[in-house]
Amino acid sequence: MPVPLLDLRAQHRTIRDSVVDAMMRVVDDQAFILGRPVEELECAVAGLSGTRYAVGCANGTDALLLAMRALDIGRGDEVVTTPFTFFATAGTIHNVGATPVFVDIDPATFNVSPDALGAAVTSRTKAAIPVDLFGQMAAVERVAAAAPGLPIIEDAAQSIGARRRIDGEWKMAGEAVTIGTFSFFPSKNLGGYGDGGMMVTQDETIFRRLLRLRTHGSVKTYFHEEVGYNSRLDALQAAVLGAKLPHLAEWSAKRRANAAFYDAALGDLDGVTTPYVDPLNESIYNQYTLRVERRDELQAHLKARGIGTSVYYPLPLHLQPCFAYLGYKAGSCPEAERAAAEVISIPIYPELTRDQLDEVVAAVRSFYGR
Ligand SMILES: Cc1ncc(COP(=O)(O)O)c(C=O)c1O
Repeated sequence: MPVPLLDLRAQHRTIRDSVVDAMMRVVDDQAFILGRPVEELECAVAGLSGTRYAVGCANGTDALLLAMRALDIGRGDEVVTTPFTFFATAGTIHNVGATPVFVDIDPATFNVSPDALGAAVTSRTKAAIPVDLFGQMAAVERVAAAAPGLPIIEDAAQSIGARRRIDGEWKMAGEAVTIGTFSFFPSKNLGGYGDGGMMVTQDETIFRRLLRLRTHGSVKTYFHEEVGYNSRLDALQAAVLGAKLPHLAEWSAKRRANAAFYDAALGDLDGVTTPYVDPLNESIYNQYTLRVERRDELQAHLKARGIGTSVYYPLPLHLQPCFAYLGYKAGSCPEAERAAAEVISIPIYPELTRDQLDEVVAAVRSFYGR
């Protein structure tokens, strides 16, 4: 039985009527850009995230870009981040004119090492961007302690609805930092039927700046206080996301249940390390990522058995050709490089059946002769 890495059609079948109704309301209204569905979604995402404000935008990449612009980050500035992430985290630092500074990860969680981050701060550092990789929040409070006073942009593209106990209290992804950024790319836990993104913040001044930046730096039509972007969220996407949001908690709980199943079924294999979730965290498992020996052979073996997998991410960003100008060499971030050689993500989506989970487990075990 083939098991894809992700089956969006299986999810769509369960919500088709409510999503199509929501889309048709927008179609009948013929109001496609921003407007009420976007405002309602912003309200709902701010509520979920425990923040005072949320601003929708075109995608998770723009959310990072706008966040940096709202903090006046640009030429001559440095932004410290992890090299073990999707390209957008660092591509946007470059695109605002700043310099990405890469520091190594914590090998257990794959998230940025707060100590390494703190040690990399210089007088030119304007922000830190920890990433909540695979759905587990970065230790944002430890980043804040390691770099006192430095603004933090939490790249929460993969972690909407994840939480972490900070000083004894649950904090949601995006809640405890200067700006949190989300992506609604279709494969995310809350995915649209196209691109979408959002920024959350507790700060009213930043909120107003983000609103302005996403519409060409203008609040009053045709009057521009600064040069911004066209980075609006479509009403159709907001309608889809609004219809999906009430299911998010249940979907994330199912992902956690699938993860617990795999942990129990694969945890005894020599040469396989199941994901480590910090006891302070509740992950939403956007990915279930094993660390394994002979990764490429395992991936080929699973492919031959019809099991979808992916390697997030095979080449850390400090070694990408486009960042050669920064001067990093192999060995600069050894844990990120080791992770890139050892990780493999297997199907974790909420609609997986017990038979499919069994199939994945049997396929992985058979590779290790068990
Ligand atoms: C960690 C991370 N940052 C940023 C992004 C960019 O989001 P988008 O694809 O919506 O631009 C993604 C997702 O693709 C991501 O996984």
